Amino acid sequence: MTGTKVTAAQIQTMKGRKRISALTAYDFPMTRLLDEAGIPLILVGDSLGMVVLGYADTTNVTMADMEHHVRAAARAEPRALLIADLPYRSYETPQQALENAKKLVAAGAEGVKAEGGREILAQVQAIRTAGIPFLGHLGMLPQHVLQEGGYKIKGRKETEQQALLADAEALANAGAFAIVLELVAAPVAKELTQKVPIPTIGIGAGPDCDGQILVTPDLLGMLPWYSLKHVKPKLNAAEQMRAVVNDWKHGVEISAKE
Ligand code: KIV
Repeated sequence: MTGTKVTAAQIQTMKGRKRISALTAYDFPMTRLLDEAGIPLILVGDSLGMVVLGYADTTNVTMADMEHHVRAAARAEPRALLIADLPYRSYETPQQALENAKKLVAAGAEGVKAEGGREILAQVQAIRTAGIPFLGHLGMLPQHVLQEGGYKIKGRKETEQQALLADAEALANAGAFAIVLELVAAPVAKELTQKVPIPTIGIGAGPDCDGQILVTPDLLGMLPWYSLKHVKPKLNAAEQMRAVVNDWKHGVEISAKE
């Protein structure tokens, strides 16, 4: 898309001025379509594992998978800020986090996201010291789904609320430009949004975050095999595809008889 390139600093300054819309993309056409629609922040998320690669969760996604899909998305040369997820176990030490963040940047990402708060602060600092924009991710951490035994709302307990606030403040102080809040109880997401100086971008975290992010195939109804509480598809792409394919198949079969 033409126009001025969106930077992490610009996303950060949208707090309190303009709500941030963000979506995921994993390839050239989706990145280009989202960019042409004016979405300012596009995430090559490790939701890739479920919505493209057919895994049950994100824990099988590798750096090679992420680099491959980041390269495809980056070929769209979006005006949007293109952020990529550091996949499971790719940021266990500050050195590993930095090495892998650099690989995603070399593939075309303009910043990285990783899951966690104070426990990954040294990793965040290493990434930020190298000048790479960092997007935080707090609340339900999908890379921990196996330990957690499912996708659970965070922030219902007082201890969780305090931990979320301390983590969000730590990420902001370490130089994150924004924080994704996933499945955080809505009143807690609202409080965090009021208290932290950087934007919060919610997914299943109520209406009061500074922005919202969704996994694009969920928004478009491309995955009819499961439903999620936090997203009502705005399109039934799966049904429409089935109908078009059936219609085309029927046309081929009819014409073969003639
Ligand atoms: O991987 C992903 O798509 C994400 C979003 C759910 C924010 O992290």
